[in-house]
Amino acid sequence: MSEQPQILFKYRTVPGYDNIDVYQKNEGYTALRKAIKMVPDDIINELKLSGLRGRGGAGFPTHIKWNGIPKNWDRPHYLVINADEGEPGTAKDREIMNLMPHMLVEGCIIASWAIRANNCYIYVRGEYMEPIASVRKAVEQAYAAGFLGKNILGTGFDLDITVHQGAGSYECGEESALMSSLMGERGMPRHKPPSAPLPVISGVWNSPTIINNVETIATVVPIINIGGAEYSKWGTERSKGTKLFTISGHVNKPANYEIVLGTPIRKMLEIAGGPLNGKPLKFLIPGGSSTPLLPATDQYLNLAMDYETMGANGTMLGSGGLMFFNEDVSVPKLMTRLMHFYAHESCGKCTPCREGTNWLTKIHDRIMAGGGRYEDLDLLLDICNNIGGRSFCALGDAAAMPIQGAMRFFRNEYEALIPKESLSKRVFTPLPIAGAVR
Ligand SMILES: Cc1cc2nc3c(=O)[nH]c(=O)nc-3n(C[C@H](O)[C@H](O)[C@H](O)COP(=O)(O)O)c2cc1C
Ligand code: SF4
Repeated sequence: MSEQPQILFKYRTVPGYDNIDVYQKNEGYTALRKAIKMVPDDIINELKLSGLRGRGGAGFPTHIKWNGIPKNWDRPHYLVINADEGEPGTAKDREIMNLMPHMLVEGCIIASWAIRANNCYIYVRGEYMEPIASVRKAVEQAYAAGFLGKNILGTGFDLDITVHQGAGSYECGEESALMSSLMGERGMPRHKPPSAPLPVISGVWNSPTIINNVETIATVVPIINIGGAEYSKWGTERSKGTKLFTISGHVNKPANYEIVLGTPIRKMLEIAGGPLNGKPLKFLIPGGSSTPLLPATDQYLNLAMDYETMGANGTMLGSGGLMFFNEDVSVPKLMTRLMHFYAHESCGKCTPCREGTNWLTKIHDRIMAGGGRYEDLDLLLDICNNIGGRSFCALGDAAAMPIQGAMRFFRNEYEALIPKESLSKRVFTPLPIAGAVR
């Protein structure tokens, strides 16, 4: 397929790898046997050496998160796995859960030992019926083999894993909303620091909690097997290791791929079989639908896919949902579709997002129906500016950023949809703000 090192996906295609016997014949549970003999802080130190950053979207260093948890066993600690995977364009956690669920379970046991937790919850997206069944089967097999339950491998360490089926909401992937949902409350986000403590201090049931993405936790297994320093040899200075990318859209071989961070986007396109039927590409979305698009020109195709390079170019690596689009795709039409998604998924807790996503949707609908006004284009950006950074959680930013990216590079496509009589009045008058002093 490619010369990319396969660290996570090494045995993915081995028949029966989702079964504990086959898994154990292919290095399965060797990392656990090693880690359980280690002092918890030494495991965290291996993660520090590895440079692993959270694979759920934000790229936060995993060892810093884990280090924040109190270093005692005198009260319950919880490990919560974010398997909600709601970001459009991303389907890599599904593949881990379907084909290699024991790697996730093994990672959960190692992580629980490192953060001194006796309970772990895997919160899986409600629609993921197949992954839920696969992970449940793996958990049962791990109990039967003595890797879960009381006195794991004779060490005195106890751990229970519960697989929880989510209720089917994008917002429940936001970590504080996920915690609320897990506890049976509405899936809405909580206050964040400085007005509330971090989950590592007070998470589920007001207890210290670590929340990590499925891929993050699965990656802990090979890191313990090969050592953090070895893992860190791949990647760039600050974006270490490999990452799973769901490459989709107008490519010949859409699939999940394990790719070294820092690989040029052009190379990733090649790995995914190149542009579909050789038709020229127009743009790409690098990390899931929330991340701003980039034109598919030499300048951007030559960029390295890592957290820093994407950030420096006004977009994000996100959750690794790399989508390519050819000339057949209308940017305003795609954005209209996305805005319907974000408006539908907005939980309604805060005004900028609840109202703003609704307005973005209505204005897009108006433009697409041929009733757009020239000032609508600035109005869209104005609304985005009032959502981004002003919403209660990052779903607001996730809705605003795609429009900002689309306007940055493809404003002309919006203009082409505006009736000519409106284009003659190119003056944008900001809407009066109630109560504003002018
Ligand atoms: C609206 C929204 C949806 C999210 N959905 C997911 C998700 O489905 N899976 C995930 O791992 N992280 C998701 N996140 C990010 C989580 O809040 C959190 O950063 C992540 O679970 C932390 O794990 P990591 O450090 O291993 O990346 C979402 C964030 C937002 C704002
Ligand atoms: S930004 Fe506000 S309304 Fe939107 S999902 Fe988050 S809390 Fe809910």
